Amino acid sequence: MKALITAGGHGTRLRPITHTQNKHLIPIANKIMLQYALEYAAEAGIREAGIIINAGDTSIQNVFEDGNQFGLEITYIPQDAPLGLAHVVKISQDFIGDDSFVFYLGDNILVGGIKHFIDDFTKNGTNCHLVLSKVSDPNRFGVAEIEGGRILSIEEKPDYPKSNLAVTGIYVYDSTIFEAVNNIEPSARGELEISDAHQYLLNKGYSVSYSEITGWWKDTGKPSDLLEANRLVLDSIKHKKLGIVDEHSTISGRVQFGGNSKVINSTIRGPVILGENTKIENSYVGPYTSIGKDCVIKNSELEFSILMNGCTIEDIQRRIEASLLGNDVVIRRTQKKPVTHRIMVGDQSRIEIE
Ligand code: G1P
Repeated sequence: MKALITAGGHGTRLRPITHTQNKHLIPIANKIMLQYALEYAAEAGIREAGIIINAGDTSIQNVFEDGNQFGLEITYIPQDAPLGLAHVVKISQDFIGDDSFVFYLGDNILVGGIKHFIDDFTKNGTNCHLVLSKVSDPNRFGVAEIEGGRILSIEEKPDYPKSNLAVTGIYVYDSTIFEAVNNIEPSARGELEISDAHQYLLNKGYSVSYSEITGWWKDTGKPSDLLEANRLVLDSIKHKKLGIVDEHSTISGRVQFGGNSKVINSTIRGPVILGENTKIENSYVGPYTSIGKDCVIKNSELEFSILMNGCTIEDIQRRIEASLLGNDVVIRRTQKKPVTHRIMVGDQSRIEIE
């Protein structure tokens, strides 16, 4: 069993963050998104993983290198153009060979890893095993039509979904999937759709089984999805007290402190995670907040947010919430006269002020 993990695309709905970094490197609860996928694969006993990257993007390789630290052997497979998920499978045929494999969309985050789905595939002895999850907006996904425990059809982003069961980004295949991806035609949007490959398997009478996710699952396309995934992961963190908390501070709930972090005269209400060397002073940090390393929060209030490394928030009077800050962002009350908003932001940034 091998793993094939996607880490390409352009993350357009996450601009400006994705102007300077690959979406799959965004941290969720201070852990890089793609690391969840790699850890799930390693936990499932997989040793060889292929990661699909945009041709020319070296950023993923710079972080994960040869995969040794996860007990994996990683092969990076470049995709020249975004021609669809079935195209991703198609260009990976040499890497996969005759093995079975789990195909994992690197922007999916779920509880409990992927081992049990691979076990279900092996137990069922099917050609393809899909992982489904009930959603309220099925028209954003591939949708499965089910009758009597069998999949009748799969449609990609249908206007009139036949069920509320989305096909999530975790698929287990044997090598018949290559027959499918080599025989389908591009869709109206010019992509080889993975749902069309699944429908091909069904049409040809190949066996397609499924499991339903009972816990949570999130595909992280939009900023609100990232905040939600962050909330879900933080919901299960354990309290870990490192760093320094002074006697004027109140910590409640589960808080993970990074090494050398300092909390001075502040209130932190978990679940919250603080990176190394981060300092919270005269401030409030509320639930579902992840703060990266080397950040400073001073005389401010913050909750339900993700801050990457090296951020500073200082002397802000209104509580900041539902916010996503990239690396080295500074938000500071002006000390100069006239007292105005003085803003320097890159393309496609969004600022909402009172
Ligand atoms: C892709 C697939 C879709 C699937 C979804 C899961 O959609 O095409 O079938 O339900 O991933 O994350 P995309 O996120 O590329 O729009």
